[in-house]
Amino acid sequence: DAQVRLKEGVELPLKDPDAFRRLGIRPAKGFLLYGPPGTGKTLLAKAVAREAEANFIATKSSDLLSKWYGESEQQIARLFARARQVAPCVIFIDELDSLVPARGGAMGEPQVTERVVNTILAEMDGLEELQSVVVIGATNRPNLIDPALLRPGRFDELVYVGVPDKAGRERILRIQTGKMPLAADVDLGSIAEQTERYTGADLEDVVRRAGLVALRQSLATREVTMAHFEEALKDSRATVTPEMESDYAAMQGKLKQQASSIQPIGFIAPGMLEGRGSKG
Ligand SMILES: Nc1ncnc2c1ncn2[C@@H]1O[C@H](COP(=O)(O)OP(=O)(O)OP(=O)(O)O)[C@@H](O)[C@H]1O
Ligand SMILES: [Mg+2]
Repeated sequence: DAQVRLKEGVELPLKDPDAFRRLGIRPAKGFLLYGPPGTGKTLLAKAVAREAEANFIATKSSDLLSKWYGESEQQIARLFARARQVAPCVIFIDELDSLVPARGGAMGEPQVTERVVNTILAEMDGLEELQSVVVIGATNRPNLIDPALLRPGRFDELVYVGVPDKAGRERILRIQTGKMPLAADVDLGSIAEQTERYTGADLEDVVRRAGLVALRQSLATREVTMAHFEEALKDSRATVTPEMESDYAAMQGKLKQQASSIQPIGFIAPGMLEGRGSKG
């Protein structure tokens, strides 16, 4: 689902902006990928840029935060200027949630983050429609994100990246074992069956561990067997709990609501958002 929505939302406007112009609609300027850690958000953003044959500029919000007065803003302005120069271009901002300062945290004073958020908002507002620059943000803590960032014209589209289903897990296992010599008895379908709620990153770890088990038995090992995988599965578990999943599900509705119900542009402290949602 996330793949399809991103493909439509990013690839079409970048490849064929005229189609949108003809219909008089504006493509989304920003996409926010959110979901549990290790589900492939970063991977997905990179893949989309590649498929859209667009340039890709990746950054993390922690890299945008500077303790020197005014430097963060300059850095963001440079980022957007560069993107416009090399358009069609995807700007990827990872860890968008760290634009909300942890209290007493390392990332300096709240004013810095507030200014950074405001600068990003101004830059996104200033992006002319159809300028062929798309911003993709990613976070695994969407509830910490300043709702002003989620308003229309900014991160328009919220895309949930969840844990893969069984068929998805099997395909991920196939990719992750692509370079691994597998014994004939290795049944990826059965491994997929036994790995409910595993993320892509968890599955990658299982594959790596199976390889390690094989190596530990003998350095001369030529292939990895099902027994090696069974051993690896014993000391691995899903990082995503059922509670986490239902928390994310509950967030989905809330995020959009917050975006439209909160007026002031700028900085919202963590904790202030809790309990807002449905009550408005
Ligand atoms: N859908 C997938 N297909 C193949 N590999 C995947 C997939 N999802 C995750 N992985 C593996 O897990 C690793 C981590 O994924 P990625 O860094 O994209 O997760 P993330 O969602 O950005 O996590 P975080 O929220 O912690 O930043 C990838 O490098 C890849 O090896
Ligand atoms: Mg990531």
